[in-house]
Parts: sequence; structure tokens; C-alpha cells
Amino acid sequence: MEEKSKNIDLNKDIAEKGDRFLMHTYSRLDVVFNKAKMQYLWDAEGKKYTDFTSGYGCLNVGHSNPDIIKALKEQIGRIIQPSNIFYNIPQVELAGELCRISGFGEKVFFANSGAEAVEGAIKLARKYSTDKYGKKRYEIITFNNSFHGRTLGALAATAQVKKQNMFEPLLSGFKYSDINDIESVKKKIDDNTCAVIIELIQGEGGINVCKKEFIAELKKLCEKNEILLIIDEIQTGFSRTGSIFAYQQYDVIPDIIVVAKSLGGGMPIGAVISTDKICSAFTPGTHGSTFGGNAASCSAGVAVIKYLLEKNLAGRAEILGKYLTEKLKMLQAKYQIVLEVRGMGLMLAIEFKKPIASALIKSALESGLVLNKVSESTIRFLPSLVINKKDIDFLIRFLDKYIKEEDKK
Ligand SMILES: Cc1ncc(COP(=O)(O)O)c(C=O)c1O
Repeated sequence: MEEKSKNIDLNKDIAEKGDRFLMHTYSRLDVVFNKAKMQYLWDAEGKKYTDFTSGYGCLNVGHSNPDIIKALKEQIGRIIQPSNIFYNIPQVELAGELCRISGFGEKVFFANSGAEAVEGAIKLARKYSTDKYGKKRYEIITFNNSFHGRTLGALAATAQVKKQNMFEPLLSGFKYSDINDIESVKKKIDDNTCAVIIELIQGEGGINVCKKEFIAELKKLCEKNEILLIIDEIQTGFSRTGSIFAYQQYDVIPDIIVVAKSLGGGMPIGAVISTDKICSAFTPGTHGSTFGGNAASCSAGVAVIKYLLEKNLAGRAEILGKYLTEKLKMLQAKYQIVLEVRGMGLMLAIEFKKPIASALIKSALESGLVLNKVSESTIRFLPSLVINKKDIDFLIRFLDKYIKEEDKK
């Protein structure tokens, strides 16, 4: 019996059980990660991997960062879930910190995920606008290829037919424009428009970067028509692009931002941040969330902000992002098969002329690298911001070898 258990491949064994008991909403690979530290992961068999996905961009400060663990341990030993009819210390502290680092925020609503934060922002924008301008002013403009989440309101904001069309009817009141095309926005605006929701770099949609001139024009258009500008910083936030929030590089002040992912350092949390004036639309009973602002998640959030400021992770993302971009562009210059390298900071993508992403990811896993695709021809890089040049060189050596073979075919 002992002999037999020694021969079981733990990754395969757990994957088989998972396949049986979990809903098949993801195409999972047969690897089970069982240990993590900063930018590294170990599978159930003890094999080490360098992670260039950081849990879908949730771990800017690294996996199981010791500072976050320390803060969490202290908090869960004291109180985890005091309930939102009372104040709790880490929640109040985190709200203050978010307002401070946002530079414009005056109030925060806490949720548990990105989608829930987006739902909160949709409700806040609608309530503020209908209170001020009348019942018809509830329409929101979002952008083709955007991603704002899977709940029905956030899905209506997510302008991707292939994700939406199985779940109609969606929440009504959404219109879709194109990024970097201000005329397409002007065409959709009317007296019923209350807000625009935009990612400055579309993450799930393929790492599509908004141009600075476009965002400046969009802000002007919003101001002129008294439309709220909501920026989705769920993937771009917390130093990922080379500044704490991406909008800080666009010289634009939003009316509302939504954040989640890396705020929790691995713990589930989301937040809506806005001004006193706009937030006055939310009065007791208008919105809520049982676990939103949970003391444990908020204590992690406070530790995350402290860590990323102390270690200047934004500066690191900028420098290492340039290094990785340079190396990827060298591959582009060397191999015909590479179509484009794009992104900002450590939110980057390489697009190929052929659909090789799935096979590349499998081969990378065998070589001890965790990668992620945003389409069959595009690999996205969202590593922890604590990675170093050696990690990047390891990735580039793998890509160079793999692409060289593909280029010959
Ligand atoms: C820009 C953006 N908004 C919203 C979401 C939804 O976040 P969550 O998966 O936490 O609901 C995501 C998730 O990938 C995202 O990238």
C-alpha cells in the first residue's frame, strides 16, 4: 500500500478528483500548486516554477509575501468579520489609505471581488445621476473588447459578444464604443448617458493600450456633458503599470475608480473609490455586502499598500517592464512569427502570427514557467512586481528556443 501511494502522481490524482467534483468553468491544466513564495510556485510533486501570471494579476507583492502573512495572522487572531453595522479598524485604515494614494478619492465602498466592485460603481453612477438629472439618465458607455467581470451587470459592461451571448437578456442600458476612437464615443452619448467605464489598458481583451490623447479627449467630453468617468483599475492598479494607478500616467482625474485583485495580496477584496459629492448618493440601505470590508482582507490590503510604497514597486515595474519589453522586442526582430509586443510596466503581451499560445504554455510548464494567454495567438505577462532580471532572462531563454522552432515550421 505504501509502495503504491509513492508511485501516485499527486498532480494527476488531484486533477482527476477536481475534474469530477468541480464545475467545468475553466480549462485547467494538470498541475496542482501546493506551495508558493513571492514569484515562485511549487507543484504537488515538489517541482519549482517561475510565475509570470501572479494568479491573474492578483499578486503584485508576490505569493504569500511574509509581510502580508504577518499582518493577516495578527488580524485573524483578533477579529475576522465584525459586520458592517459596526466600524472595524483595518477597514477604516484601508479606506483612508486608498483615498490618500488615489489622490482624488474621499470615500470607499468595500466589496469582495472585481465584478462586485464594478456592480457597486454601476449602481453608484446610476443613483447619483438619476437623483440629479431624472429617471432616464442611467445609460453607460463601455468599450469593445473590455472586461469588467462575469456577474450580470458587469457582464453587460463587458463588451465581448462571446462572453455575453449565452446569458441574455443582460442588464439593459449599455452602449459600446471603441478605444482610441473619440468619434465612436461621441456617437453614443445622449441626454440619458450617465457614465463611461474604461480600462486604460484592456487586460483580458488582449493588452490593448489607450492613447493619452484619447483619454484626455474622453475626459473633456465627459466634463462637457456632465458624465461620470469610471476607470477600472482592477488589473492595472497597485503599481502594475509603473505608477500606483494607471490614470496617474494619463494626467486625468477620474470620478470613480474600481479596484480589486492585487489590493488583497491574495485575499479576496474589491473597492469603489469616489468623491464625497458622488458618494452622497449612497445612503443607508442603498447598497451593501456582508463580507465587503472584512477585517482580515482589509488588514492584508493595508499591508499591501505599505509594502508596495516602501519597496517602490511602481519604479520596479517601470524598470523591469522596460527590460522585459526590450528582450521581447529583440525576439520580434529575430523571428518572423512574432507580430507585436505591447503593454505598459509589467503588464505586457507578445502576439504571434499563428495560434501557438496553448502549445507554448504547455511547453513552458514543462520547463518550469507559468504563462497565460489572452487569445490563441497572444501570451500575456503579469508577473509579481518582485521578479528580477534573472527570472526574466530565464523566460526569454525559453521563449527564444520555443519561437525559433515555431519560426522554422
Ligand atoms: C479589468 C477587470 N475588471 C474586472 C474584473 C473582474 O474581477 P473579478 O474576477 O475579481 O470579479 C477583471 C478580472 O480579470 C478585470 O481584469
